[in-house]
Amino acid sequence: MKVVAFTSDKGGMGKSTAAVNLACAAVEDGYEVAVLDLDPQASVGRWARMRKREHLPPRPLAETCVPIDIEDRLAELRAAGADLVLLDTAGRDNNAITAAVAAADLVLIPCHPTDLELSTLGPTFARLRAEQTPHYVLLIDWSAGALRRRQDATQAIERAGGRVAPAAYTHRADYRLALEQGQGVTEYQSWQSAAQEIRAVWSWLRGELGLTRAVQTV
Ligand SMILES: Nc1ncnc2c1ncn2[C@@H]1O[C@H](COP(=O)(O)OP(=O)(O)O)[C@@H](O)[C@H]1O
Ligand SMILES: [Mg+2]
Repeated sequence: MKVVAFTSDKGGMGKSTAAVNLACAAVEDGYEVAVLDLDPQASVGRWARMRKREHLPPRPLAETCVPIDIEDRLAELRAAGADLVLLDTAGRDNNAITAAVAAADLVLIPCHPTDLELSTLGPTFARLRAEQTPHYVLLIDWSAGALRRRQDATQAIERAGGRVAPAAYTHRADYRLALEQGQGVTEYQSWQSAAQEIRAVWSWLRGELGLTRAVQTV
């Protein structure tokens, strides 16, 4: 079982959105996935309740969790056969971030390529380097064509000692609309660009985690 934590020092960077969408893409790919919501604001917990209310599929499992329970909950999920657990945290340093980073095989930091968001990454990298947890920035492009901004952001991140995930997704209304309906973009409009780019990010993440295919289709 692999554990991925989503962290950032600033709120509103896209952690919860990335967590639920990658969870849904991994489920679509045949994996047993859980999302543990460690943020007191509980965006993922709300998303999970919406899924229940709308009778949407029970996978991925998504629930709130307090930091002190992380280790026990991870052990239970491992025993139950989970392949992947995604830990969503609040946008500031607190107990949850420390516990989530300690439990994680990999940390992802979603970030739009703006000066405001890029300027918050330094302390995040410093903490992750100290913890020696592998980490990548997940860049959220403004549009499919905004390559220059992506290149500049990549250089700024590398200067600050970070790495950018080679697969990116884009700022699109579909992410907000899907989340508001308790869905991932792969469920909401499975043929659209948002779904395709999230599948590509999942495909990169799956390789990075060394997860082999769970389901063989014939
Ligand atoms: N790729 C995206 N495209 C469009 N809106 C996004 C995207 N990612 C996040 N958002 C929006 O940005 C806001 C903050 O995202 P959220 O995932 O809640 O951030 P965090 O969990 O880091 O606080 C939400 O309104 C969400 O719908
Ligand atoms: Mg959040």
